[in-house]
Amino acid sequence: MSGSDPRFSFRSAAPHTCLVSLFAADSDRISRLSVSEQGIYFDFSKTHLTETLVLGFKQALLDHGFEQRRDDLFGGRIANPTEGRAAEHSAERGEGAPESVAQAKQLHGRMRALIEAIEAGALGDIAHILHIGIGGSALGPDLLVDALGRDAGRYDVAVVSNVDGSALKEAFARFDPHKTLLVIASKTFTTTETMLNAESALSWMVEAGVEDASGRVVALTANPERAFEWGVDETRILPFSETVGGRYSLWSSIGFPAALALGWAAFEEMLEGAAAMDRHFRLAPVEHNAPILAAFVDQYYSLARGAETRAVFAYDERLRLLPFYLQQLEMESNGKSVTFSGAPLGVQSAAITWGGVGTDAQHAVFQLLHQGTRLVPVEFVAVIEPGHDLDEAHHRQLLGNCFAQGAALMAGRPHEDGAHAYAGDRPSTTILLDELDPRTLGALIAFYEQRTFANAVLLGINPFDQFGVELGKEMAKGIEAGDIQFDASTQALIDRAFG
Ligand code: F6P
Repeated sequence: MSGSDPRFSFRSAAPHTCLVSLFAADSDRISRLSVSEQGIYFDFSKTHLTETLVLGFKQALLDHGFEQRRDDLFGGRIANPTEGRAAEHSAERGEGAPESVAQAKQLHGRMRALIEAIEAGALGDIAHILHIGIGGSALGPDLLVDALGRDAGRYDVAVVSNVDGSALKEAFARFDPHKTLLVIASKTFTTTETMLNAESALSWMVEAGVEDASGRVVALTANPERAFEWGVDETRILPFSETVGGRYSLWSSIGFPAALALGWAAFEEMLEGAAAMDRHFRLAPVEHNAPILAAFVDQYYSLARGAETRAVFAYDERLRLLPFYLQQLEMESNGKSVTFSGAPLGVQSAAITWGGVGTDAQHAVFQLLHQGTRLVPVEFVAVIEPGHDLDEAHHRQLLGNCFAQGAALMAGRPHEDGAHAYAGDRPSTTILLDELDPRTLGALIAFYEQRTFANAVLLGINPFDQFGVELGKEMAKGIEAGDIQFDASTQALIDRAFG
């Protein structure tokens, strides 16, 4: 299948040239392989991308109907054919079909009004926000609050996703039920873990004697009828459009706890940053387009070099949740084995996304990155402005370590004793933010969304459905109901645990 497929043009290109030689041969390499956009510097120069590869992948992108698919995405047309709907997360930040943008604005208006009412004390004395949701209904808000809300000082926020009661217990121990706002986030309002956690949290408030506990519940959902049936008053249901996918939903009312904790102005700035990145993605030429170049890097290491994973290390404590957020975004979107039209994919789907924080990860997993036999393209994400006022030695050391790791991975170091040798030529991308403010974070997240989309186009995948999660859900329901006969191993586990 790969004969004339331009995704494989690297096969006819010059034999593999190491990174150090690529730099030596081209004094202009950095300016050609870096992009500055929205206060973010993207450095792809320490990857094996070359002009020839960029041209090959550009051709592949066009051959895969990129322009049409991108226009469908931003035009509010069907971008998710298996579910027969558009994918309109960009409309939430003002970039989309005019009627969808207008609807998003109106729903944001409701969200803002409720936030102002809460700030004015309409729901009583609120100090804590207990946000319950899972997957896309938790990871985005959690990331935003953790990254930007450390000094906000407005509300304490706990995001509880796991159905393991220990997760809720931890929040109960931290919060005063009389001062807690219970936020239930679920696009479908049917997710079993979220529904059980929501019931337990409400019972916790009722049992503590909170007067009108259900009057302190807010629902964020694309299924307002269901939330109403569950017992949430219409005035506290914040709907969002069915066309906004779960893992793309932090821009919608799912971002409510972040907007409440950080303030509405901050939330709007985040939307504006994301919209600016959308425009960059739509309008910048491929050769200078950060999400597209990043997707070329992803596809090159997957298709040409057989990389199974890609690692993301946030060299900033405030971004420690970024790898978790990206795992859902990238793996739920592009972890599929059929194309847009249902044919077998024929190539590897998305790489496994994993990662952690620097410098911690250096003392745990970097051994394998430097000397292991597997190729792992690494992505460093760092921020120039420190997030604290401690001695600047902290931040200098943090950033110094980040840059040193990229340099060491690339340069390597020969040694006659193999145990001490570093092969080098190991690729990395560095994403350096001027500062971590709402606008820049919005732009960064939108960059990742559009990169995921560009990868999907190159792979021929529909990134907006997620049927792969359904079978396990059904089987879990079968275990609950006791109405499925399982294989012998699973049945033995069930019998052992439940008797
Ligand atoms: O199981 C996967 C999934 O459907 C995700 O796509 C989604 O973000 C998550 O579950 C939560 O779904 P909901 O927001 O409907 O509760």
